[in-house]
Amino acid sequence: MDNIMCGIVGVTGRQDATEILLHGLEKLEYRGYDSAGIFVSAEDGQNYLVKEKGRIADLRQEVGDDVHGSTGIGHTRWATHGVPSRDNAHPHVSEDGRFYLVHNGVIGNFAQLKAEYLADVNFKSETDTEVIVQLIAHFAKEGMDAKAAFKKVLSLVDTSSSYAFLLMDSQAKDHTLYVAKRKSPLLIGVGKDFNVVCSDAMAMLNVTHDFLEIADGEVVTITPASVDIEDAEGNKVERAPFHVDTDASAAEKGAYEFYMLKEIDEQPAVMRTLEQKYFDEAGNILIDQDLRDAINAADRLYIVAAGTSYHAGLVGKELFEKIAGVPTEVHVASEFAYNMPLLSAKPFFIFLTQSGETADSREVLVNVNKLGYPSLTITNVPNSTLSREASYTLLLHAGPEIAVASTKAYTGQIAVEAILAKAMGQDKDLEVAKNFDLTGELTKVANGMQALVDEKGQVEKLAADVLGTTRNAFYIGRGIDYDVALEAALKLKEVSYVQTEGFASGELKHGTIALIEKGTPVIAIITDPKTAAHTRSNVQEVVARGANVISIAAEGLATDKDQIVLPEVHPLLTPLVSVVSGQLLAYYTSKQRGYDVDKPRNLAKSVTVE
Ligand code: AGP
Repeated sequence: MDNIMCGIVGVTGRQDATEILLHGLEKLEYRGYDSAGIFVSAEDGQNYLVKEKGRIADLRQEVGDDVHGSTGIGHTRWATHGVPSRDNAHPHVSEDGRFYLVHNGVIGNFAQLKAEYLADVNFKSETDTEVIVQLIAHFAKEGMDAKAAFKKVLSLVDTSSSYAFLLMDSQAKDHTLYVAKRKSPLLIGVGKDFNVVCSDAMAMLNVTHDFLEIADGEVVTITPASVDIEDAEGNKVERAPFHVDTDASAAEKGAYEFYMLKEIDEQPAVMRTLEQKYFDEAGNILIDQDLRDAINAADRLYIVAAGTSYHAGLVGKELFEKIAGVPTEVHVASEFAYNMPLLSAKPFFIFLTQSGETADSREVLVNVNKLGYPSLTITNVPNSTLSREASYTLLLHAGPEIAVASTKAYTGQIAVEAILAKAMGQDKDLEVAKNFDLTGELTKVANGMQALVDEKGQVEKLAADVLGTTRNAFYIGRGIDYDVALEAALKLKEVSYVQTEGFASGELKHGTIALIEKGTPVIAIITDPKTAAHTRSNVQEVVARGANVISIAAEGLATDKDQIVLPEVHPLLTPLVSVVSGQLLAYYTSKQRGYDVDKPRNLAKSVTVE
């Protein structure tokens, strides 16, 4: 397995193909950023293959000003198999120099295919992708045309594999591109006398806003003037493009040094946008009645997600149980996929996913669809795979989230869960739901978030004083604060590489407190009057063992010992303010250590393979 989370771009029919490819790769760099490459073919038959280790900026330097052409493909890589290097970077080329291929995914049986068909071929890389392009050339040498050879190879790839392939035949005079996908995301952007290919629409919003989805098993032949989709049986498929109304500038950093801080600062606006999108003037909730009826017909909710989205699901459980009165379970997608618990009689599945492309979650949805259960995807990306394949979709309207560390999507997911829980509770005539003045509460949350980001300077200082040089840290809390402790710990881990655990503060004394020593940073979250005193005594227990504590407390519970005081909001919405402090602590700790906050080592934004 070579490239499990990569970015793919392609263009045919534009004289500025090189710039379109490099711009597209820059927009996809959050998907993988350790090596990259482009292949461009010019009208005069000149071909250019440029690959480089490192960032797109390094590739752009290598490309220089001499690479011109109207058709090309490109790739940015997240290495797993084969070190980041020029040889392992994509595009990979067949030994006869005819075929060029970029790939996102995993080929399960590449070693067998190599042994069976390609024993006499000299390989330049350690990648599974090169096996595929060499195999295409192998069948072409046996007399098949490019498309037939491509389809032949697709038929030999085993079913465990995932792929998005973009192939170019350098001998084809009509600038044709060939595309196929299974599990990995890929879109075709349609233009006037040109067409583009991309892993994510954002990569091509500068040239088109109209995109075609590709279904698993389809093979697509693209020329400047045409896009021909064939299903697995070879039947022609007609499909209308969908329009993406996101403005390309929304994905710009503006005056910010890093997207993460821009996206943290955007959270108050996200709350206000959600109020506009989900409530009408009279305060009625604008969620389809079918969805409301389908979810209220369920006897149990199953929230399935990964990473930060899983943490938003933990808060969702509180909201669905306390506002909508429905028993709710929250499951880690990669565990649920192969170890499904005993389900209730009438389950309803909720998939939380910023990208809408996370393979672990999609694997569960595929099984849920096979079992015929209803499902809802709450996502930030319209037309994403998990949105298309679920029964229902609710959008976060948070705007593109570029930084690998998810922030505004987390708070957006919790707000949408709250809105849905209120709608469900109201439909069931539950007093608690009717009395839950959510528009008023979301306004309070937006103002509270604004106050916290306006005072970010104090958090910057705390990060330097308490987390400056540490190699480990702990977040503690109880109930809904424990849910936030898990998320805040993940943020600190993923952007500053500090070994951090989020912990139920009552659990510390049952073992983990042994790790507390002089100077160990412990960050306590205290927003629930019922448990505040208990958490404070846990704080005393770690202070007694030398811990360096930061306590984050709700206004009504705060003492002069608390470094961060949170504005008062509804008890079930405190994660929307308490997490902001955790996001900022992570951001500043990473920045103060000189790390690339937006592109942490070893990570990628959208995990498209299991
Ligand atoms: C969070 O900061 C990480 N980027 C990661 O844990 C992420 O939340 C996880 O991969 C799930 O992604 P999704 O929301 O796009 O499905």
